Amino acid sequence: MAHRIWNFNAGPATLPLPVLERIKADLPNFNNTGMAFMEMSHRSKPYDEVHQAAKSLARELWNIPESHHILLLQGGASTQFAMIPMNLLREGQKADYINTGTWSKKAIKEAKLFGEVTIAASSDEDNFSYVPTQSDLNLTADAEYVHMTTNNTIAGTQFHYTPDTGKVPLIADMSSDIMSRPLDISKFGMIYAGAQKNLGPSGVTMVIIRDDLVAKCKEGNPTMFTYTTHVDKDSLFNTIPTYSVYILKLVLDYMKEIGGIAAIEKENNAKGKTLYGAFDAMSDFYRCPVREDSRSLMNVVFRLPNEDLEKQFIAEAAAAGLGGLKGHRSVGGIRASVYNAMPLEGVKALTNFMKDFAGKNG
Ligand SMILES: Cc1ncc(COP(=O)(O)O)c(C=O)c1O
Repeated sequence: MAHRIWNFNAGPATLPLPVLERIKADLPNFNNTGMAFMEMSHRSKPYDEVHQAAKSLARELWNIPESHHILLLQGGASTQFAMIPMNLLREGQKADYINTGTWSKKAIKEAKLFGEVTIAASSDEDNFSYVPTQSDLNLTADAEYVHMTTNNTIAGTQFHYTPDTGKVPLIADMSSDIMSRPLDISKFGMIYAGAQKNLGPSGVTMVIIRDDLVAKCKEGNPTMFTYTTHVDKDSLFNTIPTYSVYILKLVLDYMKEIGGIAAIEKENNAKGKTLYGAFDAMSDFYRCPVREDSRSLMNVVFRLPNEDLEKQFIAEAAAAGLGGLKGHRSVGGIRASVYNAMPLEGVKALTNFMKDFAGKNG
């Protein structure tokens, strides 16, 4: 492949080209230190500068209040599925979970190891084709927290409102839509996401956790699995994935340069309008299985009239330089992941291809 494709992979996913170019330029000799960044100690000054800058850029860009700590951890969102109940759910206590798909179910499975899980709402009976509305939520007044998945990477659904959970802290897995739109972070007790979709490469997980939840962490858990450790040690208790943090910082720099999260949201809305508009214009050929009020602006899923045509679509799209369009193996179909770093131009290339394909095969 002589040039870059339009990369619609679900994660790890496409990164902004200027960031990749910067990585390339920095690689052998970072800032005239005589070393690559990945060769430096995580206790060194150059590393610490990047570490602090990544956190303060995230705070500034997304308006994260001082009441919330920003942690950079390992183990992906999957580790958070266990770490949350391990720290915040004691035997006999309850936590509410909103079940909106594969990732919610995985979080629920882990929580059941530690306490009682109540399902506040679920769209399971309808193939996870929508997210519950506020009035669908059956919340438990004495729950320790409510857990939700804001964007469902496989089902292609997204919450377009923040549930009101009263005094019960709201915890959100934002793996596939973190920093894709402005949000009132003060409404969340905790937010977490692996970086590999909207914020950089895999290897680092951002956890944003409010003071009162840190204070509630259970004693007696393994040191690495306790939020208090990472708050006290500023995420430097052990060897952090330095290179992933460095790329995270470059992505955040880039986000700031292009106008911050308001500008990113505008572009994401335009991308969504273009793609969903294409289904509506060619509804005899393309079908989006997601309820209109729940359509994701990050992972756009759709079906063609039959599976043979879907296979042909994926193969011909790849040959035309549009990659990563195969739906998740558990659901099939087509999935276009259009995270922050996918420009509108890439989405237009896809909708043009869709028009041609429908014209030839419809
Ligand atoms: C919404 C969501 N939650 C959790 C995960 C799991 O993340 P990780 O692979 O970082 O553990 C994913 C991965 O795609 C995801 O999309």
